[in-house]
Amino acid sequence: MSPVEARRTAASVLVIGTGAAGLRAAIEVAEQGVQVLCVGKRRRDDAHSVLAAGGINAALGTMDSEDSWQTHAADTLTEAYGLADPRTVELLCREAPAAIEDLVRYGAQLAREEDGRLTQRFFGAHRWRRTCFAGDYTGREMQRALVGRAATLGVEIRDDVYVTRLLVHDGRVFGAYGFDVEDGSRWVILADAVVLAAGGHTRIWRRSTSRRDENTGDATRLAVEAGCRLRDMELVQFHPTGMVFPEQSAGMLVTEAVRGEGGVLRNAAGERFMARYDPERLELSTRDRVALAGYTEIAEGRGTEHGGVLLDVSHLDRDVVLSRLPRMYRQFVDLAMLDITKTPMEVAPTAHYSMGGVWVDAETHATDVEGLYAVGECATGVHGANRLGGNSLAECMVFGRIVGAEAARWSTGLDLQARDRATITAAREEVDELLSRRGEQLARPLQRAVRDLMSECCGVVRSEGRLREGLKRLDQVSDRAQAVDVRPDIAGYDDLVHAFDLHGTLVAGLATLQCALERRETRGAHNRSDFPDQNPELRANLVWTPGGAVAREPIPDPSAEIAALASGPEAVDLEGRLLE
Ligand code: FUM
Repeated sequence: MSPVEARRTAASVLVIGTGAAGLRAAIEVAEQGVQVLCVGKRRRDDAHSVLAAGGINAALGTMDSEDSWQTHAADTLTEAYGLADPRTVELLCREAPAAIEDLVRYGAQLAREEDGRLTQRFFGAHRWRRTCFAGDYTGREMQRALVGRAATLGVEIRDDVYVTRLLVHDGRVFGAYGFDVEDGSRWVILADAVVLAAGGHTRIWRRSTSRRDENTGDATRLAVEAGCRLRDMELVQFHPTGMVFPEQSAGMLVTEAVRGEGGVLRNAAGERFMARYDPERLELSTRDRVALAGYTEIAEGRGTEHGGVLLDVSHLDRDVVLSRLPRMYRQFVDLAMLDITKTPMEVAPTAHYSMGGVWVDAETHATDVEGLYAVGECATGVHGANRLGGNSLAECMVFGRIVGAEAARWSTGLDLQARDRATITAAREEVDELLSRRGEQLARPLQRAVRDLMSECCGVVRSEGRLREGLKRLDQVSDRAQAVDVRPDIAGYDDLVHAFDLHGTLVAGLATLQCALERRETRGAHNRSDFPDQNPELRANLVWTPGGAVAREPIPDPSAEIAALASGPEAVDLEGRLLE
């Protein structure tokens, strides 16, 4: 087939993304007896979710019977610094135990106590042990179980489709356009409803827990071009512990489970520095605090040879490390020739999770476009200014099920669907135009330029001056991106993928910088050296529209029951700690 000939197919519900959120959505659609097609750009058993390590939260009370979904919700809201939507959080926490039941029903082998109960461990800033896990391979095990369940239900999955555009007519989605990443042949996928579950944008920083070519902002771009607004793009979680050495592994996740199992952080002088930042919770403080603490130690010159701090588990029993943290053990042996049962790991903050993303309704996750839903890391509303570790996998399961049901309902209730030919033609021409371009620029170095500028101008600590510099540099990259040379070859259409990814990165970078400028305060993961205090007037979500307008959206108060269990947005003593 010539690349420009499009294969046409149709689905009642199209799911874009084959990670945990996408698969859970597809499973729900199928379980409701509605036909579904799920497409992704990489192998389904290697979707980004497999990198999720330490666990999935649900207030099961198997280890601490005092726990309840209400306390889980209160912890989530408290640690979100007032920016999470209480309606979304309550849904998440109420439904999380059922999500674990689903996983077990699908065959996920979660760790158990000797008496057969599911075991749960501590993660940072949780009042009780409520994180279920499979060693430190939790995401991988979940993905295995979800792929298995989808196969049992006969869900059609294609691993080779890169979606370039959502097809929208009159504010209503009717499918997607894309190409086969191997041979470049085109796809027109007509659908009643579309679920966008294609990840966030944390790979637009130089050091990231995402691998190359994932979380590039591609979902962000698809949503924006379809007519969606974005929300809270400035709220990006830096995980406190990413590898720093060797350089080619820098940024890779060192799971919070290491600290959950008793790992200790020290600076190069051997001081257990968390005692100065959060004397009560120490290493199990919130991610924003631990990340800022590590960042500060390094910035003030107490870092290690490779620019990190030390994370030590050598005091733990070797069998505990091997059974509870097998991936970390293997990762450091394989990549750094280091036995973590004997030698501390060097770690530093790394971009980990997009807490902001596509604007969605608090309960249904419907977007601004009719028939289009967003779920997982590309969506927003659950985590506010600081995500609790272990809540993202819970979010994928809970809201995956909810959007699956919503999309199925939308599809079955649809009377008429326009399939606008001009929209499909425009999508085809966009790809044709990129393929015919002959320019002097390459997508990879431009991606690198964005990652550098985001790291230098919009990292753990930000300021007006740096953010404006970031915008200027981004503008220059955008100009150069007009002349990207795209040359697919016999090995595949990666070059075209990179060109579209770059486009997504530019959209996500712009929205992030513009929202970060507007949030003139320090709150959670967003540290402004020029505005070191929390501003009560900014207890609002920031809603971004193309063109750069940023509006404030009020956030409802939690129910009285949850509010009684939560603490208000906490002020953190940042004296001398916001070094750029
Ligand atoms: O550290 C971790 O294992 C990450 C978990 C999460 O981000 O939820």
